[in-house]
Amino acid sequence: MTDLPKGADRLAVALDLPDLDDALRLAERVAPFAGVMKVGLELFVRYGPRAVTEVRERTKRRVFLDLKLHDIPETVERAVTSAKASGASLLTVHAGGGRTMLEAATRAAGADLQILAVTVLTSLDARDLAELGAGESVEVHAKRLFDCAWAAGVRGFITSAAEVASLRSRQPTSYLVTPGIRPTGGAAGDQKRIATPASAVAAGSDLLVVGRPIRDAADPALAAREIAAEIALASGPA
Ligand code: C5P
Repeated sequence: MTDLPKGADRLAVALDLPDLDDALRLAERVAPFAGVMKVGLELFVRYGPRAVTEVRERTKRRVFLDLKLHDIPETVERAVTSAKASGASLLTVHAGGGRTMLEAATRAAGADLQILAVTVLTSLDARDLAELGAGESVEVHAKRLFDCAWAAGVRGFITSAAEVASLRSRQPTSYLVTPGIRPTGGAAGDQKRIATPASAVAAGSDLLVVGRPIRDAADPALAAREIAAEIALASGPA
């Protein structure tokens, strides 16, 4: 990935579109400024592993497959094996699947596929957790899930920028991936806890996931280039 400008290696673009040709067009436009392309459920449910292989072949970028797996350990282990075969480099699972499921995921992933655990979905609040029987704050519950995933061998996590610093101090070598990024002055959409690219980098995020601010921009390539430049600036001299 030596062809990428500084900062671009830490930018993942979410290809959140229903049509694979549209997603591939977007991916090709932004690939010069982003090291990672994220394929989510919308594309994967419709096109399957082809979505991963085509994005990878067309862009020569790493593919982040955001499936948030949560099932019995054997099923997850087999699904992770299939994801690996598609050529994905990063894959999400729910930490709430429990220790054995997480161990199965990391075992199947091996060295070439980075498992990323989702702790508490950003769409849930304390009331949702209480209704589900977890009578503790979102922060405490997220830390409990983080510790469980870490103990199971998971080293990558999805986290809001607000939690990066505390998770980083809990496990300094963790790989922290942050969605909810909005360039200064951008619309928040349905993201509740947002951060600018510069503040996410300053907090210690390793990879920033950006969807709508790039997808919906008049010029997605320019939007990606500006975000990569902001990441580079905030990262300081290499
Ligand atoms: O459009 P936006 O920049 O909000 O996109 C963020 C991407 O990250 C979406 O694909 C969304 O599904 C994903 N994501 C998230 N929050 C999480 C996990 C994943 O926004 N906790």
